[in-house]
Amino acid sequence: MTILILGATRGLGREIARICRRDGHDTIETGSSLENGREGRRTFLNVDLSSSTSVSALMAQLDALPPVDQFYWVAGRLLKGDFAVQEERAILETMDINVRNVLPLVHYLWQRMGSADSLRRIVAVASSSGKKARSDEAVYAASKFAQVGLIRSLGLENRSDNLKITLVLPGGMKTGLWDRFPNPEYGTFMDPAKVAERIVAFVNAQQERFAELDIPRGSL
Ligand SMILES: NC(=O)c1ccc[n+]([C@@H]2O[C@H](COP(=O)([O-])OP(=O)(O)OC[C@H]3O[C@@H](n4cnc5c(N)ncnc54)[C@H](OP(=O)(O)O)[C@@H]3O)[C@@H](O)[C@H]2O)c1
Repeated sequence: MTILILGATRGLGREIARICRRDGHDTIETGSSLENGREGRRTFLNVDLSSSTSVSALMAQLDALPPVDQFYWVAGRLLKGDFAVQEERAILETMDINVRNVLPLVHYLWQRMGSADSLRRIVAVASSSGKKARSDEAVYAASKFAQVGLIRSLGLENRSDNLKITLVLPGGMKTGLWDRFPNPEYGTFMDPAKVAERIVAFVNAQQERFAELDIPRGSL
């Protein structure tokens, strides 16, 4: 099985990629901080999600690889603080990285997976901020609500028994996502390795065409 992980270089995505390799799968691992290459059954593809051109180049590279059986959409960037003082560039980049520039990739995979005659999976990691508004996360919440709206709608649109869609809504995890925004409650955040195990086990057991997985902070 070939598993594409968007955002496999750090945090939760790195842990999911590790589990996929441990379980014997080929992985296509992406991030903006790695270089294109291969290492055994791992393929590395550089993509900068703040650039739509870079996402187009990623899709062209995927065309030359074996079909993707599972897609984990994990990449994301946090933006916190008062909306009034945030820079327009940071606001738009957050939307681009978290949802806008990923849309063509989801569309590309949706077209191929929807007509597949064997099992395919799309797994989107959103956030508890995709369903709960927080005063200092307006733009991040906007991006995550958009991701949730997209995936729930695709869950309804999915007419194939061979395609399973999973929406994951985790709470706080101890990852580098928070490096630019120190959080006083960081000590209570979850271990991304445990969250990754929970997600992969849920995904592999899922029989329904669409399912949601809540992983509230403190539950693991
Ligand atoms: N940590 C939490 O508390 C928490 C809670 C709920 C939901 N989430 C969500 O969980 C997901 C994973 O977060 P994490 O905590 O694991 O974050 P992380 O440790 O900061 O990792 C983020 C990943 O996204 C990739 N990424 C970020 N910007 C990118 C860009 N411009 N182009 C390509 N890839 C990019 C990074 O790759 P490069 O560095 O190589 O670009 C990295 O692999 C995110 O969607 C986040 O919103 C996190």
